[in-house]
Amino acid sequence: MRTLIKNIKELVQVERQPKLRVCGKDMAQMETVKNAYLIVEDDKIAAFGPMSELKEQSFDKEVDATGRMVFPSFCDSHTHLVYAGSREIEYIDKIRGLSYDEIAKRGGGILNSAKRVQEASEQQLYDDAMARLEQIIRFGTGAVEIKSGYGMTPEAELKMLRVIRRLKENSPLTIKSTLLGAHGIPMEYRGRQEKFVDLVIDQMIPQAAAEGLADYIDVFCDAGFFTVEDTERMLEAGARYGMRPKIHANEMACSGGIQCAVKYNALSCDHLEYTGEEEIQCLLSSETMPTVLPGAAFFLNMQHAPVRRMMEAGLPVAMASDYNPGSSPSGNMQLIVTFACVNYRMLPEEAINATTINSGYAMGVSDVLGSIAVGKRANFYITTPIPTYEYLPYAYGENKVARTFLNGKEV
Ligand code: NIG
Ligand code: FE
Repeated sequence: MRTLIKNIKELVQVERQPKLRVCGKDMAQMETVKNAYLIVEDDKIAAFGPMSELKEQSFDKEVDATGRMVFPSFCDSHTHLVYAGSREIEYIDKIRGLSYDEIAKRGGGILNSAKRVQEASEQQLYDDAMARLEQIIRFGTGAVEIKSGYGMTPEAELKMLRVIRRLKENSPLTIKSTLLGAHGIPMEYRGRQEKFVDLVIDQMIPQAAAEGLADYIDVFCDAGFFTVEDTERMLEAGARYGMRPKIHANEMACSGGIQCAVKYNALSCDHLEYTGEEEIQCLLSSETMPTVLPGAAFFLNMQHAPVRRMMEAGLPVAMASDYNPGSSPSGNMQLIVTFACVNYRMLPEEAINATTINSGYAMGVSDVLGSIAVGKRANFYITTPIPTYEYLPYAYGENKVARTFLNGKEV
C-alpha cells in the first residue's frame, strides 16, 4: 500500500539524520519542508521532499493537503489513563485551599482512585481507557506510555496491567506499559511502609514479570511518598527482571529522586518542579531524560520546573501529559505545547521537540517515532488550515488536528 500526501503547506520536523533525542540549544532547531510531499509505504515513511522534486509515479491513495501542515504525532511518555471514575470533588477541595499533600494524607487522591479501581471490572477499565485513547488520537497523539498505580494490591495492579496489555493489542497507538506498584502508601501500611515495599518486591514485580506485563518500572520517589532507600530496593528488584526505571521525582521537594534515577540509569525522571544545580549536573552525566509534566503543574498550581535553565545547561527536556484523574485530567498534548510556551518560556520549536522526539526517547520509541524520517513508522497528523506552525501553541483550546495516520493508515 503506497500513499501520497501532496501539496503539504509545511512538513514539520523532518530529520535526514535521525537522532534519538535533542539536547540544549539544539532543541530550538527544527527542520521543515515547505510545499512538500510525503510518501508512505505500508506502515513506514518512504520518502519526503519539496513538491518540485516529486517524480511521476502511481499510488494506491492520494491526499491533497493544500493549506494544511503535517506534523509527526505526539509521543505522550507519561500517563495514568487507566482509571475508574473522576475526582472533581477533590478539585473543589483544592480550590478551597487544601493542598495535594493534605488531600493525600486524608486518604483522598491516589487512594481514592485505588478504591475505585479495585472495585471496577477489568472490562469497565478497558472500555473507559479505550475511549480515552480514541480521544487522544483525535488530539494528535501517536504513542503513549500507560502506568498501573491505582491498584495498590497485587491483584488490582495486575488487573490494570492486563488492561494495558489488551489496549496494546487492540489500539493503533504504540503503547508502553509501566508497573507503578509504589504510587501511594495504603492506609493499612502507614507507619510501616517498608512492608508495602516488600509486597511490591515479593509479589507485584515477579508476577508482572511472569506474565510479561511491564516494559518499565516506576516509583513515586518524593517527600511524603517513597524514600530513596525504598526506591532503590524496588528498582534493584525490577532490574532483576529487566524492567528499566522511569520514575516520579522532585515534585514535592528536592528529594534525591533525580540522583536515584540517574544512579539506576532510568530512561526518564518525571515532574522535576524541585530541580537545582546539583540535580542538573547529575542529569548532564546521564542517559536519563528529564521529563516535565506541565498539565499537572498547571492544574495543581505548582511552581514550574526550571526548564530554560535545564536547556541552557545542555540538557534535553521532554514533556508529557500525565493524564490522570487527580493532577491532570487531560491527555491533550496540544495544550501541553501551549503550557510549554507560556509557563516555561519555551519556543514553539523547543516545545515540539519536547513532545515528540524527546518524549519518544522517554518511552523508548524515538528510534522509530517522534519525527518525520525515512524508515520511521508513519504516525503523523494533517492539521486544519493553519497559517504557521507557531499557530499550534498559539491557538490554544482549538483542535488543530484534522486527520490522523497511525502505522501508515488513516484512523
Ligand atoms: O503524576 N505524582 C504522582 N502521581 C500522579 C498523580 C496521581 C493522582 O493524583 O491520582 C501524578 O501527578
Ligand atoms: Fe504521574
